[in-house]
Amino acid sequence: MSSGLGAERGADESRHGMWSGRWLFVMAAAGSAVGLGNIWKFPYMAGENGGGAFVVVYLLCVALVGIPIMMAEVLLGREGRLSPINTMRALTLTSRASSAWVLIGWMGVLAGFLILSYYAVIAGWALKYIVSLADGTFNGANGEFANRAFNDFLANPGEMILWQTVFMCLTVYIVAKGVTGGLEKAIRWFMPLLLVLLVVLLGYGINSGGFEQGVDFMFRFDWDALGVDGVLVAMGQAFFTLSLGMGAIMAYGAYVPSNVSITTSVVTIAVLDTVVAIVAGLAIFPIVFANGLEPDQGPGLMFVTLPLAFGQMPLGALFGALFFVLVSFAAITSAISLTEPALAFLVEEYNAKRSRVAISLGVICWVLGLGSVFSFNLLADVHVVGSMTFFDFVDYVSQNLMLPLGGLAIALFTGFVLPKANVRAQLGLKGGLPEFLWNTLVRVVSPLAVLTIFAYTIYKNIG
Ligand code: PHE
Repeated sequence: MSSGLGAERGADESRHGMWSGRWLFVMAAAGSAVGLGNIWKFPYMAGENGGGAFVVVYLLCVALVGIPIMMAEVLLGREGRLSPINTMRALTLTSRASSAWVLIGWMGVLAGFLILSYYAVIAGWALKYIVSLADGTFNGANGEFANRAFNDFLANPGEMILWQTVFMCLTVYIVAKGVTGGLEKAIRWFMPLLLVLLVVLLGYGINSGGFEQGVDFMFRFDWDALGVDGVLVAMGQAFFTLSLGMGAIMAYGAYVPSNVSITTSVVTIAVLDTVVAIVAGLAIFPIVFANGLEPDQGPGLMFVTLPLAFGQMPLGALFGALFFVLVSFAAITSAISLTEPALAFLVEEYNAKRSRVAISLGVICWVLGLGSVFSFNLLADVHVVGSMTFFDFVDYVSQNLMLPLGGLAIALFTGFVLPKANVRAQLGLKGGLPEFLWNTLVRVVSPLAVLTIFAYTIYKNIG
């Protein structure tokens, strides 16, 4: 978004600025979607939830729930052209609907805070690993060494806070400057490079001796290994990885020019995001099996397997460091979008300066994030609910409850409340099969999927 506030423009533009075309929107939204969720989270969640069946539920959720809800978010954003909270305020007025729908915006802001608080901690790990790989720590390392290196790092809250702080400062700096200048240009280079390096790792995985086991693990449909919570987690992951349910994409939608096709853009974004996640999984699991590591070791999975692989490659230190640079960059482009709903709202409400707001948001998230830092060391034995640490809890509630709930409300509002004419104009629908498909997905399939998965989890957990 350019800094262009001020001057009155046509109702067709956002006061925060506009993407300079379809590709810039696709890249920005893909930058939001592709992040730690794909490279760090997806593989470890698939690993913890038994692999194949998790992947199937996840893919189904992306296609049947994620794509329609992402379309709905972009559509609402473009219709309102304001921050999610104010967009919902405006749209409830034009639709003569209850102002309770504005809660979508408020819950999104809260979810954004919660997610960014721990996101910065994990992205800090990636920053730390740039250095560890570059200085050759992992050259020739074996599985045991990689495991120990990671655990030693987790045991050291001071170091974790240092890297969390660095990441938060970088994010605030970029957010404060406005996004258009450097970031969009960089995304053009970083995203393809990231994919290339993932494919290099995939090549390594194919030759590691564990490829077949890895593929089998990821794609064998073993329903029993999934478990009850696994279904909810797979749906939560679909929301998380596509940045849905908290208004990030709605905020970005406000800056989309009117002539851009929402459907084509959204499908492109979802496909890109899914490809990165699958390739990351196919790169990581063969290394797990070839080295006798455990697929269900949780958040440390990427930080143990990949340094191991790089440590055994020629020029591994260089490629490894570069890889973690790219992961950190992917994390920053996502972190930015996590702040956008709250940021745009505060700028609108108080005419505040972007930079001031950015710093305040950064400080709040940083403080909240300390809880996640300590969950891996000082407070590792403090369980907030059940066996969950603070980090587990914040992650679980935001990803598995708040995002799907937000998504459900967005689908219902778009499907039933917003006047049909507005929806048709936004999506360029003229009846026939496309309109039927859209209505079925947004009114029936996605709300029912979310509700069914919620009901199933509650029923099974009580029963
Ligand atoms: N989609 C991002 C990722 O996969 C995380 C994110 C979630 C960003 C929600 C914005 C909103 O890493």
